[in-house]
Amino acid sequence: MKEKLEAIKAAAVNAVKNAADEKQIEELRVAYLGKKGELTAILKQMGGLSPEERPKMGQLVNEAKSYVEGLVSKKREEIKQKATELKLKAETIDITMPAKKRETGKLHPLNTVLDDMIDIFQSMGFDVLDGPEVETDHYNFECLNVPADHPARDMQDTFYLGENLILRTQTSAAQIRTMETRKPPIRIICPGRVFRADEVDATHSPVFHQIEGLVVDKGITMCDLKGVLEQFAREIYGPDTEVKFRPSFFPFTEPSVEVDVTCSECGGKGCRVCKGSGWIEILGAGMVHPNVLRMCGIDPEVYSGFAFGIGLDRLTTTRYKISDIRLLFENDKRFLEQF
Ligand code: PHE
Repeated sequence: MKEKLEAIKAAAVNAVKNAADEKQIEELRVAYLGKKGELTAILKQMGGLSPEERPKMGQLVNEAKSYVEGLVSKKREEIKQKATELKLKAETIDITMPAKKRETGKLHPLNTVLDDMIDIFQSMGFDVLDGPEVETDHYNFECLNVPADHPARDMQDTFYLGENLILRTQTSAAQIRTMETRKPPIRIICPGRVFRADEVDATHSPVFHQIEGLVVDKGITMCDLKGVLEQFAREIYGPDTEVKFRPSFFPFTEPSVEVDVTCSECGGKGCRVCKGSGWIEILGAGMVHPNVLRMCGIDPEVYSGFAFGIGLDRLTTTRYKISDIRLLFENDKRFLEQF
């Protein structure tokens, strides 16, 4: 019996030494020291011993039990400590590691230029308005003095959504919507997307951007138009910028002009950007046609006004020397990240 005890003890010691985790150690505890454990079982077999041997054997078994118990709790501590160490090691922060880069968004170059323009016009007292991109024939053409069979309709290839519903070809519809709802003095700009069925190339896109401007009051003249546009051009392009008015035609303004500014790239000497002319065309403008005022319920005998439509895309491509307008609409991050 003594040998059996020694064998069990030796097996227990060996097993405890090799236990790898808390679960295993608990299983061993139950297997050897539990109520049905091997060391407990041996106590129950002592009935066959002589009365003298019994206490001796009992003592031996109890010694073996407490020895194994001691080992078990020591091993349990060890395992716990090891687990804590591992956990701490895994959680340490290596402050020499490179930081994770966080990507920040940026303004689209069109928005940067638009924000600048809004600032300039707001400082001159203009309100900023919004208008619908889906327009009626009435606002986009009819009230702008372009009746159904007027040849000027050919100037703007139109996307039709229905018989009277179109994608606006110009922000000029905002002039009408404004004059219908506001009384003079009126001083507004309306930036937005416009749409024309143009063939796509480096300078044409079926979607582009305009900023419409409208001023209506008593005694407004062409000089006011010139002053406002000169002020605008010099704030955008620099104080030495010259502004040139060329006679032109728009059905809703009379007289009408197209406005060039000295090329910001070469200062007027002629270069690739201005195609050698020294000038860049940036907008169309004119004095609001009396018919248009009348259609909006404003008496042209009392009031006069001017309007302009600035091309935001051209302004942006010249400012950033972008060679192809398509880049503005492709949303390629490699391109946009440069601004
Ligand atoms: N709407 C015109 C265009 O798209 C520009 C313009 C606006 C001209 C206002 C005169 C007055 O070409």
